[in-house]
Amino acid sequence: MKAQIVFASMTGNNEDMAEILSEELTTLGFDVTNTDVSFADATSYLDADLCIMVTYTYGEGIFTDELDDFYEQLIQLDLSGKKFAVMGSGDKIYKEHYCENVDDFKKAFEKCGATQAANPVKIENAVDDHDVILIENAAKEMLAAFKK
Ligand SMILES: Cc1cc2nc3c(=O)[nH]c(=O)nc-3n(C[C@H](O)[C@H](O)[C@H](O)COP(=O)(O)O)c2cc1C
Repeated sequence: MKAQIVFASMTGNNEDMAEILSEELTTLGFDVTNTDVSFADATSYLDADLCIMVTYTYGEGIFTDELDDFYEQLIQLDLSGKKFAVMGSGDKIYKEHYCENVDDFKKAFEKCGATQAANPVKIENAVDDHDVILIENAAKEMLAAFKK
């Protein structure tokens, strides 16, 4: 099974999340591609069984230019029959905007017709030991979604 992860990260926290997720999914038997959003084309999801977005949120939920371009490509796609998952790092200091872009991409995947494979994972800032467990458990949930 192919998993395509796209991550958006400025200071490395979401890149770390994507890397941990990539390693765990590989251990679980997925053929994983992990791509920085700056170099990603949303059509790469068309070749995947599992479509994943790991994203920051900056500017109180407003998309950065990179996210905006990627989102506009994504919402054109028909991803019906595929599964998706979203996760990201934000900061609760931003209150109602905490990890808002994670929710934006969840809605986008749903609009594209994909089915959620695991509950979204939201963490605060840098990845700690507890977060690693959350990410690894989410990966196991993703695998389980294919066995239903
Ligand atoms: C100017 C600025 C705006 C931010 N806005 C938000 C926000 O709206 N919501 C949120 O959850 N986090 C916000 N953050 C926190 C970052 O999303 C958080 O530090 C995240 O871990 C950064 O991910 P990265 O290291 O992958 O770039 C903001 C941070 C900065 C510096």
